[in-house]
Amino acid sequence: MKSHVLVTKRVYPEAIEFLKERCEVDYVDSDDGLSAEELKRRVPGKHGIVSQLTDKFTAEVIDALDGVKIIANVAVGFDNIDVAAATRKRILVTNTPDVLTETTADFAFALLLAAARRVAEGHQFVHSGQWRRWTIDLLVGQDVHHRTLGIFGMGRIGQAVARRGRGFSMKIIYSDAVRAPESIERELQLQFVSKDQLLREADFVSLHVPLLESTRKFIGERELRLMKPTSILVNTSRGPVVDEAALARALSERWLAGAGLDVFEQEPKVHPELLRLNNAVLAPHIASASVDTRREMSMMAARNAVAALEDRRPENLLNPELWSQRSGRTGA
Ligand code: DGY
Repeated sequence: MKSHVLVTKRVYPEAIEFLKERCEVDYVDSDDGLSAEELKRRVPGKHGIVSQLTDKFTAEVIDALDGVKIIANVAVGFDNIDVAAATRKRILVTNTPDVLTETTADFAFALLLAAARRVAEGHQFVHSGQWRRWTIDLLVGQDVHHRTLGIFGMGRIGQAVARRGRGFSMKIIYSDAVRAPESIERELQLQFVSKDQLLREADFVSLHVPLLESTRKFIGERELRLMKPTSILVNTSRGPVVDEAALARALSERWLAGAGLDVFEQEPKVHPELLRLNNAVLAPHIASASVDTRREMSMMAARNAVAALEDRRPENLLNPELWSQRSGRTGA
């Protein structure tokens, strides 16, 4: 008998084909996403769910997922899923790491460069017909090369951003709950510093921490005031890591020079003040959005779902303890 899979939202068609060859698929071929109630209504009879970061799997929703063996999230971040509750319900949870590392780092650097060199303002200036003559200080910005890049979170994406920083001859300092391996520090010439030292010294601060209770509003007014008034903040991690109201104030009162933001506290809503400011470069959560990466993320989630349903260990398991607890399994 074939397993039944719910795909909650539109993904790349290759992933649907892959699933259909192996399972019965209930495909919500739309970009709207399912509410908690719709999700609960649609789940009976399903063994697997391919989900996206906009689907909220709270403990209450998870409790209603009887018969579901796996939630395969199409994202590296999984703050939309209460993994502890899923583990209690004996549901495997997977994400899509690695495939998006370089793509996301490219975009973090694009935001950094755009904010420093006022790319969006230049674009707007030319498009709106305001460009009449060349002047010595027209849209002058900040140099990036040879400046100090501060990275919070030296995981895969943090390291990829550091590599780009090395290419721009930047000095790189970082801070993290856990120090990076010595080999990485040596290869990327990283200096491990405290949170406050990073904020005080960096010309550019790039955030690569996961959203946890401990990282909610990790950057608030206190932190923003520690930064130099010439500094730029880049966030491609999760919106709630930054206190958006405090950031909007810092940017509009100019105690912070600029920001490049791909993520927001209440997406797709953006703090109205940020929308007015020309020193905030804003993007709609697209850091991993290259064709190849988004296609591969879709495929990876589909493969994870099928593996679990065929009783094979999915590659990107976030609660591996569940797998090793299953009778006769070694946890490998
Ligand atoms: C993720 O994967 O967590 C990104 O935010 C979306 O690609």
